[in-house]
Amino acid sequence: MPDLKYSSGFGNEFATEAHPGALPVGQNAPQKAPLGLYTEQLSGSPFTAPRLLNRRTWTYRIRPSVMHKPYERIANGMVRSTPFNEVETTPSQLRWDPLPLPTTPGGVDFIDGLTTLAGNGDLTMHSGVAIHIYSANKSMTDRFFYTADGELLFVPQLGRLLLHTELGILDLTPGEVALIPRGIKFRVELLDPQARGYLLENYGASFRLPELGAIGANGLANSRDFLTPHAAYDDRDNGKFQVVAKFQGNLWATDFDHSPLDVVAWHGNYAPCKYDLARFNCINSVSFDHPDPSIYTVLTSPSEIPGTANVDFAIFPPRWIVAEHTFRPPWFHRNFMNEFMGLVTGEYDAKAEGFVPGGASLHNCMSGHGPDAETFDRASKAELKPVKLDGTLAFMFETRFVCRPTKFAMDTAARQNEYYTCWQTLKKNFKP
Ligand SMILES: [Fe+2]
Repeated sequence: MPDLKYSSGFGNEFATEAHPGALPVGQNAPQKAPLGLYTEQLSGSPFTAPRLLNRRTWTYRIRPSVMHKPYERIANGMVRSTPFNEVETTPSQLRWDPLPLPTTPGGVDFIDGLTTLAGNGDLTMHSGVAIHIYSANKSMTDRFFYTADGELLFVPQLGRLLLHTELGILDLTPGEVALIPRGIKFRVELLDPQARGYLLENYGASFRLPELGAIGANGLANSRDFLTPHAAYDDRDNGKFQVVAKFQGNLWATDFDHSPLDVVAWHGNYAPCKYDLARFNCINSVSFDHPDPSIYTVLTSPSEIPGTANVDFAIFPPRWIVAEHTFRPPWFHRNFMNEFMGLVTGEYDAKAEGFVPGGASLHNCMSGHGPDAETFDRASKAELKPVKLDGTLAFMFETRFVCRPTKFAMDTAARQNEYYTCWQTLKKNFKP
């Protein structure tokens, strides 16, 4: 395990060098960059984006990113992209068991184990998302990945990872999340024999902290708890280094004659970061009624319509439930927004069984859902004393467009075809 250093703050301006003197002072692009490095700017937003939204990083690297042969198409494997029209999208509630972990001899790395479950929008228009599951039992060593189609939000469920990125190395444990901006190359090293998790590819506006409105200056995810790695470089040029690019929905590959993770120093505000979800400060009802899940928003990707997120990332972590004379789990509901849920650990309070760590559920626009019959019965009779929900971590990718499952997601044996039955024993209690 390398000695990893981080700086704190979400989207802050950072300056970091892995070698003393590698970072030019007072200038972005001197005639000669220090130590014989090349200067390269990485823009994460249009040049003229408002200052608050402007994202760019200046890198000082051993070789510029342009030194490679032409990309060639490779098979997309189980990766799918917009328009997500392989199958017609059902309004039925959907749920899945965890996808099996790879058993292939020789191992399956992060790229080869990527499987898309659903998505929406139009990546060519920078809108919508793809929801993938990664499942791997082999580290990437001389193989690297980037997507030009969106930014990546890692939600690990099983196994610790080291994300070696162009701008530094992040360690990631289930319970934490990591954000890798569009275009940044990385490789995934496994610190445990197997790894599985959820991977959101956000085609839309980059994730930011939500507005806090009446909550005030503090609460939910605090900026200082987001950690960005210090510069770390990989000076290897003995062999072949494959870079796989996801571009316009397809996978392409080329060989470099050196490691592309060769940034010795950088400064800017376009960089990967990680966040420990245990740092999330829950704000909840201390009088009555069950608030809308927007109170649990960690990060939001806004759309051009005010209050209508391209995607929100919300979590349901350990917390006290204290509301008076109130049905405590989420009530039955039908929503405009579309809810893809996953579970990192423990149990989710609206379901008695069937929704397990590594699994997923999807409730799309106006499809009724809510507590299963067993949970409804239990919660209706429960003594209304303060209760600590503990040892649980569920999350939601809430999107403005209907999440359209892939053919794999509909056909896989992991899909629970009997999911609907969990509501069929709800009794008629009406006594006029
Ligand atoms: Fe819901």
